[in-house]
Amino acid sequence: MVRERTKNRDFQDILIIPATDVKPGLDISSQYPTPGPLEVDVGCGRGRFLQARALSHPHINFLGIDRVSLRLRKIDRRANQAGLANIRLIQGNALHVIQDILTPGSVSVFYIFYPDPWPKRRHQNHRLVSPPFIDLLHATLIESGSIHLCTDHVDYFLAIQKLFTADSRFVEIPHFLPCAEEETDFGILFRTQDRPARRCSFQKKPL
Ligand SMILES: C[S@@+](CC[C@H](N)C(=O)[O-])C[C@H]1O[C@@H](n2cnc3c(N)ncnc32)[C@H](O)[C@@H]1O
Repeated sequence: MVRERTKNRDFQDILIIPATDVKPGLDISSQYPTPGPLEVDVGCGRGRFLQARALSHPHINFLGIDRVSLRLRKIDRRANQAGLANIRLIQGNALHVIQDILTPGSVSVFYIFYPDPWPKRRHQNHRLVSPPFIDLLHATLIESGSIHLCTDHVDYFLAIQKLFTADSRFVEIPHFLPCAEEETDFGILFRTQDRPARRCSFQKKPL
């Protein structure tokens, strides 16, 4: 009970779309004060990239998705303190959120930075970037929309590249390189551990 009160005092959950509203039919664009292109940070973690990007691109609406609610609550608090009105957050499995909530042809850009690599062979079926997930990204992207990915995990990087380059619905484009302010929390951590980021970007081909 005491913990619950502390939580409520510390966090306002202003930018987190309530779980009760996260259901098919939700119009994400109506959640932002002004209309704009929608960019989605999949597995946004502690949100360093999301906040820096939202600050420098006020005309773009950003959606952060992560399955860990405590991380989203921290982003919520910091983004509110910074007066960022162009961020919304959804807690849940990104695969289900993208499939059930995002409207086809509504997303300009997906950022997928350091998705969990599931390094053990027997766990690799848990990896987020898979053929069904790529189908969902394709369906929800606008024409010429893009996907920017990075990971420190060589095997996962090669698997991701193989999936996209074999997919004739996408074309590889020069990779997205975040500026120093946009470096993600895991990006910073891995850099200090001498684990270089491997990056690739793809664009949805027009029909
Ligand atoms: C390694 S962290 C990277 C976080 C952030 N992108 C960064 O670079 O600092 C992976 C994040 O993805 C989230 N995540 C993993 N699988 C997910 C899924 N299926 N749906 C939503 N979030 C997921 C985790 O909770 C975690 O915050």
